[in-house]
Amino acid sequence: MDKNVLRNLSYGVYAVSTLDGDRAVGCIANSIIQVTYDTVAVSMNHENFTHECMEKTGKFSISIFGEDIEMNTIAFLGFQSGKDRNKFDKIETITVDGLPVVKNSVGYLICDLVDKLDTETHTIFLGKITGGEMLSDSKTPMTYDYYHKVKKGNSPKKAPTYLG
Ligand SMILES: Cc1cc2nc3c(=O)[nH]c(=O)nc-3n(C[C@H](O)[C@H](O)[C@H](O)COP(=O)(O)O)c2cc1C
Repeated sequence: MDKNVLRNLSYGVYAVSTLDGDRAVGCIANSIIQVTYDTVAVSMNHENFTHECMEKTGKFSISIFGEDIEMNTIAFLGFQSGKDRNKFDKIETITVDGLPVVKNSVGYLICDLVDKLDTETHTIFLGKITGGEMLSDSKTPMTYDYYHKVKKGNSPKKAPTYLG
């Protein structure tokens, strides 16, 4: 297979957040799709701390990032683990239905975890959308392509799109 073909699939950049007890946890994910009018799918690496917290909590939020998102927010959430530190200490959040949402986002979705499908490395979590709101009308949602080409961002090994 020519792996470069996969680089032509399109995504956005999001924070998937949930709780560890009453502590805010979460990570960056690009692999989110809307699968029905009220259901989304998220592909989450088994080793991400967010994975076990999503399973325990049974609900999660998705913060939709705009092109103006600070690269620090992506660094905090996407390149370290909530197992060892409180990643949200330095990120401004709002709380919706008890869940953390990144304040500087285009908007957010609140989901109940309703089903899952396992692969060798990642679990596809299905979330039924129970709420959602725009936080800004002026921001442009960031594509994965923009994140790489304009923001010069990288993706770590646990991102499903990692090609080595
Ligand atoms: C741009 C970007 C996209 C990512 N996409 C995903 C993804 O779709 N699924 C996933 O499991 N991890 C993805 N990651 C990796 C996780 O965010 C990363 O492993 C994080 O450190 C996990 O934190 P946790 O252990 O607190 O859950 C991505 C990271 C970045 C920077």
